[in-house]
Amino acid sequence: MRLTRYFLPVLKETPSEAQIVSHRLMLRAGMIKQASAGIYSWLPLGYKVLKRIEQIVHEEQIRAGHIPMLMPTLQSADLWRESGRYDAFGAEMLRITDRHGRDMLYGPTNEELITDIFRSHVGSYKDLPLTLYHIQWKFRDEVRPRFGVMRGREFLMKDGYNFDLTKEDALHAYNRHLVSYLRSYERMGLQAIPMRADSGAMGGDNTHEFLVLAETGESEVFYDSAITDRTFGDRAVDYDSVPECQAVLEEFTSRYARTDETHDESAFHQQVPEERRRVARGIEVGQIFYFGTKYSEAMGATVVTPDGGRVPVHMGSHGIGVSRLLGAIIEASHDDRGIIWPEGVTPFHCGIVNLKQGDAAADAACESLYKALTAKGLEPLYDDRSERAGAKFATMDLIGLPWRMTVGPRGLQKGVVELTSRRTGDSEELTPEAAVDRIAQIYAQI
Ligand SMILES: Nc1ncnc2c1ncn2[C@@H]1O[C@H](COP(=O)(O)OP(=O)(O)OP(=O)(O)O)[C@@H](O)[C@H]1O
Ligand SMILES: [Mg+2]
Repeated sequence: MRLTRYFLPVLKETPSEAQIVSHRLMLRAGMIKQASAGIYSWLPLGYKVLKRIEQIVHEEQIRAGHIPMLMPTLQSADLWRESGRYDAFGAEMLRITDRHGRDMLYGPTNEELITDIFRSHVGSYKDLPLTLYHIQWKFRDEVRPRFGVMRGREFLMKDGYNFDLTKEDALHAYNRHLVSYLRSYERMGLQAIPMRADSGAMGGDNTHEFLVLAETGESEVFYDSAITDRTFGDRAVDYDSVPECQAVLEEFTSRYARTDETHDESAFHQQVPEERRRVARGIEVGQIFYFGTKYSEAMGATVVTPDGGRVPVHMGSHGIGVSRLLGAIIEASHDDRGIIWPEGVTPFHCGIVNLKQGDAAADAACESLYKALTAKGLEPLYDDRSERAGAKFATMDLIGLPWRMTVGPRGLQKGVVELTSRRTGDSEELTPEAAVDRIAQIYAQI
């Protein structure tokens, strides 16, 4: 993409309505525009990152054996009356009446809809296990939408639902989700810690929230600092193996890590030596939940068992805050000049800055870098505006591409361009070919 042809409405002023850095930077970098309270348009740069995050989520869910589909945003109230949640959900639910006077709603989540699909088409234990998911917009009429896409009213969520014959099978599905979530967040350059959360009215402790540590997080968290040493990395986990998935769960959840809802001060003191006790704040970027037969019983989602009986299926639901993740990633990765995208989610792989637009040699070198990167399947963003170098650097720093190639007449006389890391600020002079190879190598490992 050439910047002169792109739509990147960068703001010079810091928007006064934005209270936290990720919201400020998303507005300044021209990623989003508020349409109304808690509802945003995704401008091209923001949309690109949103798509990258979605793509990672899809890849990791499919790797875990979960099946993508798509359910609508608008749902009929009748299903929610069956489950008893139409009244229970309260003012957070956006209720709509169609021209025939039918009660509809904009889905805040999809347990009812998916259970209805299941009961219509599945009737036997032979069709289990089954995990279906989608990535779809949700609406929750939050009392206080704030912090940009972090707490929106309309937001994009991945929500997956497992259907299993037994509790044990459903817990394996739970563990698969835990493993796939650990992988997903790491690919986005994030550390998200599974913490024991509140399962509300359902009781039990089969729910974990994934939290990204950040001062601006809305949740208070208590944890053993040893937990932050754990990374999942590129392990090959067999998602069909019950013990392998269970071992990952144990490894990542055995140390104390809880949100304020489940925090137990005496257990905290007993289990964690004083020097490792941490009280901090976190952003919830996902949650996994086993809830048993709550919806299957209420809505009659049953299957025939091997011995001919009929039982309600065991279910769980598992969410990732796809749009919230943009804010969480920026909170975790920025400096005073702007965003620093992790390679896994960056909107463009590399920036090209032409220091002297209109100079024949510089223009030609930039064009050929652009072609060479594109030929390797990479997406460069070429700043081909007739702007001062300082202004071009400021834009690149603000929008946070992890790598920048700087091309100018002086370097070209020596046969080099400059390759700069946004994260460290380190620069290196390389021939254009070597610079392209380096970028290709970096992304080949992502
Ligand atoms: N208003 C929102 N704006 C953006 N993302 C959200 C919002 N509400 C929830 N999410 C994201 O969707 C994921 C799954 O939804 P879930 O039902 O668990 O949310 P929740 O626990 O009600 O969230 P919260 O406690 O932050 O209100 C959450 O982990 C979060 O990342
Ligand atoms: Mg939650």
